[in-house]
Amino acid sequence: MATDETDGDDGHDDIEPVTHVERHPTLGPAAVVTPRANGPLVVDGPVTVTAPDGTTTTVQQLFLCRCGASSTKPTCDGSHKRIGFSAPGVVPTSRSGPRSH
Ligand code: FES
Repeated sequence: MATDETDGDDGHDDIEPVTHVERHPTLGPAAVVTPRANGPLVVDGPVTVTAPDGTTTTVQQLFLCRCGASSTKPTCDGSHKRIGFSAPGVVPTSRSGPRSH
């Protein structure tokens, strides 16, 4: 994953580590998605990612861009800091927000 090389900071320094992940009795460990304030969605897995060519990779943690500025979409490259992206680090509890589906 690319990083913001202007300040040596990848923008992920203040993410709280996941200390407990629920395990489903038959489906395996559940992924946990946490919106980071003013940054990406942090997915703590394991998570299996399928590439366009069908190859798969399983990773323990993934940062998904939600600012739209990443050059490595769907993953975060730290560009949210450069553009001054602003969003809360909480999961919306209301269903009144915009829907795209
Ligand atoms: S959220 Fe980090 S580059 Fe978009």
